[in-house]
Amino acid sequence: MATVKNPSPLPLPARRQWFRRRLLDWYRKNGRDLPWRNTRDPYHILVSEVMLQQTQVDRVLPKYHEWLGRYPSLEALAEASEADVVGTWYPLGYNSRPRRLQAIARESMEKYGGELPGDEETLLSFKGIGAYTAGAVMSFAFGKRAAILDTNVARVLFRIFVGKGELKSHAMVKRLWELSRLMLPHRHVFDFNQALMDFGATVCTARAPRCPTCVMKRGCTSYSFVAKRR
Ligand code: ADE
Repeated sequence: MATVKNPSPLPLPARRQWFRRRLLDWYRKNGRDLPWRNTRDPYHILVSEVMLQQTQVDRVLPKYHEWLGRYPSLEALAEASEADVVGTWYPLGYNSRPRRLQAIARESMEKYGGELPGDEETLLSFKGIGAYTAGAVMSFAFGKRAAILDTNVARVLFRIFVGKGELKSHAMVKRLWELSRLMLPHRHVFDFNQALMDFGATVCTARAPRCPTCVMKRGCTSYSFVAKRR
């Protein structure tokens, strides 16, 4: 089994609590007001998350509204022609994504009465729904205590709690999923997961992290290292 060599110990409850409080507090003051944060509709959440997988927020925004205007339900999406769906998606790129979304819509119509199922295992059984998307739909649409890990979240957790090692290795990814699950609060899971993503996208960024003003710096394993690099 893949493991991280001499992994740093998992954070104890007091440190988990510190992180949750700081992150939620930061998000309440600095979180972005994005349309998929004002809905609990599983289909809308799915569309936003699939769009956001490889595309920046500002490019997703107009397309998200256009898509939902054209295909307001899983049923409408299932019934559209593939050419129409791919055409609407253009120019977001990576054209397997609209096809995957449509396949999910069709499977939902055939097997689940036109609804996205609200359990993680069934969501994962769809081709085109991986661990990240399943966690996002479970926590954002169904309010479940489900973890997420995308590149932003992985970078945040890695820098604050791990600090050394190969971020993309299989063993590290496994470790970071474990951390993401461990950090989840019992309440406010929606805000917590959205906050993790915003924090990675706007503060703990890949190339120019804003360490000097970061609310996590005193507890961040990478603080001196990342800050000095700048
Ligand atoms: N990237 C992926 N999911 C996101 C979300 N829900 N909000 C902002 N950026 C994201």
